[in-house]
Amino acid sequence: MDAVNEPSIAGVRELAPEPAPGAEATGWWTTLYDDALADVLLDAADPAETEATAEFLVRALELAPGARVFDQCCGTGRLSIPLARRGFEVTGVDLIEAYVARARAAAERAGVVARFHAGDAFAWTPEAPCAGAFNWWTSFGYADDDATNVRMLARAHDALRPGARLALDFHNVAGLLRGFREHVVTRRQTAAGELVLLRESRVDLPRGRLEKRWCFFHPDGRRSAHDSAVRLYLPTELARLLEAAGFVDVRFCGDVRGGPLELDSERCIALARRRP
Ligand SMILES: C[S@@+](CC[C@H](N)C(=O)[O-])C[C@H]1O[C@@H](n2cnc3c(N)ncnc32)[C@H](O)[C@@H]1O
Repeated sequence: MDAVNEPSIAGVRELAPEPAPGAEATGWWTTLYDDALADVLLDAADPAETEATAEFLVRALELAPGARVFDQCCGTGRLSIPLARRGFEVTGVDLIEAYVARARAAAERAGVVARFHAGDAFAWTPEAPCAGAFNWWTSFGYADDDATNVRMLARAHDALRPGARLALDFHNVAGLLRGFREHVVTRRQTAAGELVLLRESRVDLPRGRLEKRWCFFHPDGRRSAHDSAVRLYLPTELARLLEAAGFVDVRFCGDVRGGPLELDSERCIALARRRP
């Protein structure tokens, strides 16, 4: 990384809030996901990749025309909206009310109907059983302990009709470690000017976690920082957690083109079925 032209982590470290007492009970994910993160990543995702993902989900979840689909941890509706445009009846849930508001506004702009709810995916399930569900872009594995993480998978399981499938998109731990990048800088032009995100990553092997510091350099000169920690589950461990949540027939692929899961695969996508 070019030390002259790139933003520096120095001076931002002290901006990261000290973990509050009882932070484990609330979790870093309640504060990381703000407007800046949505602007720089979620709403700036490559539209071609998003469309390819929507197509993949239709195939992988074996969705019949008009089927009801659950988007667990839907963010700003990035995937819900292309699926609603394809005629599916989509219900999304996200913890962050501002993201739910963005998703509703995006659906309105797109002229599609999709239901978005503010809720905690560790507890929330849609009213009616769904023909498919997905949890996308590493929205899983945030708690340190497996039992808590299984609870989110169990809610996805509860959301499904017997025999229906879940697609879970997680980082491919092998590829992540082989190509490990300590620093990643992302720049976005916003209406207010350039927004820069510097991500500093480290691996805590004894705890099996990928830890990141997210430093935002706002167009008005402000700086903000957050920490995150996601579990480094290998595919075998993901399979064990999915089975603990009640799923059967767990299999994997490595990208949204349906390629096999290999050392350098972009992603680790688990497909699992609720028992028929
Ligand atoms: C990396 S983003 C992915 C968003 C979306 N799935 C996508 O592909 O664009 C992770 C999302 O998970 C949401 N999230 C994290 N923990 C959650 C929880 N316990 N309940 C509901 N949403 C949660 C965050 O608010 C955030 O929108």
